[in-house]
Amino acid sequence: MKKKKIIAANFKMNKTHIEVREYLKSFFKKLKEFSSTGETYDFNDNAEIVFAPSFTALNEAYNIIEENLEFSNIVKLASQNIYCEASGAYTGEISIDMIKAFNCSYAIIGHSERRWIFNESEELIAKKISAVLNYNKKIETDTRNARDKNAEKEKRSVKSAAISPILCVGENLEIRKSGKAFDFVAAQLNSALTGYTKELNGGTAQNKDMFRPIKTSKSINKHHEDSVNTNASDIDTDTDAGRLVIAYEPIWAIGTGASIEPEDGEKMHKFIYEYLTDNYSIENFSVIYGGSVTEKNINVLMEKAHIDGVLVGGASLDPQSFFNIYSFAVSK
Ligand code: PGA
Repeated sequence: MKKKKIIAANFKMNKTHIEVREYLKSFFKKLKEFSSTGETYDFNDNAEIVFAPSFTALNEAYNIIEENLEFSNIVKLASQNIYCEASGAYTGEISIDMIKAFNCSYAIIGHSERRWIFNESEELIAKKISAVLNYNKKIETDTRNARDKNAEKEKRSVKSAAISPILCVGENLEIRKSGKAFDFVAAQLNSALTGYTKELNGGTAQNKDMFRPIKTSKSINKHHEDSVNTNASDIDTDTDAGRLVIAYEPIWAIGTGASIEPEDGEKMHKFIYEYLTDNYSIENFSVIYGGSVTEKNINVLMEKAHIDGVLVGGASLDPQSFFNIYSFAVSK
C-alpha cells in the first residue's frame, strides 16, 4: 500500500473569501490542464492537495471544491485551528462539527504561531488532539454500526467524515544550536499525543482503543516500507481517513527564507518515524515538513525517504507558485 503525499497550503491570516475564490478558480484551471497531460504520474492517487484558508473563507473554498468534483479525491480542505469543546460559551472559537460542515478533512493543531503568539499551551494542544480522536472514534463506531446494518451508503458517508489532525512540532534556533532539537520534538510529541495508545513500550495510556484508522492497516514499519516501494494503484484511500499527520516545522525556518538542509530534515523526520513507532501503537501516520518551502527546494525535500509532504505558508499564497510546488512534488 502506498501512502499519499500531502501538499498543503496554509494561508494563515491572508485572503478574503473573494480572494480565495479567485485563487481556487485559477488553481483548478491549472490542475485541469495538468491532468489532461497526465503522462508523468497517476493523477488521482499520488498526492492530496490540502488548502487551509481562514475560517471566513472555508465556505467559499468548499463551494469551489464542490464545483470541481472530479478532483474531490485530490483536493481537500483543512482548518487552521479548532477548539477542543463540541459547543458552548467559547467566544471566537470553532468546533470540529463547524469545520466538518465544510467537509474539512484536516485540522492544523499547535502551529508554532498559535503556540508562541497566542500562548497555546501543551495541555490545550493535547486536548485538541484528543477531541479529534474522540470525534474519529465516534465516526468509527457509526461505521461499525452501519456495517452491522449492512447500510453501504451510510458506511461510505461516515468514512469520509473523519478528521486528520496535522500536529505541528518544531524547535527554535536556540534549541537547535544547543543540539537538543530531537529531545524537544520528542517532548512535544509526548505531551500532544496523550490520547494515543502507548502499548508498544508498555506505557500506561488510558485510552487504549481511542484511535485506530477507520480501516485497520498493517504495522507502521511495513506501512512505510510499502510506501516507498509500491505502485500508486495500490493506495487504499480508506486508511488515509483520520490518519495522524505530524508537521515538522522548525520555527527558525518559518517565513525566513532559510529552509532546513534536506539531510537535516530527513534526520528529524526519520527520528519522528522511529519515535512514534517505538512509543505508540499508531497504525497510520505521515510526517510532512514546513518552513520556507518553495519551488526551488521542493524537489530535494521530496526526494527524502521520510518526508511525506510539505506544509507551505508564504509560497502558497500565489496560485502559480503553489501549483508549481505541487506539480514538482508529484512529477517524480
Ligand atoms: P512558510 O510557513 O512556508 O511561510 O515558512 C510555513 C508554515 O508556517 O506552515
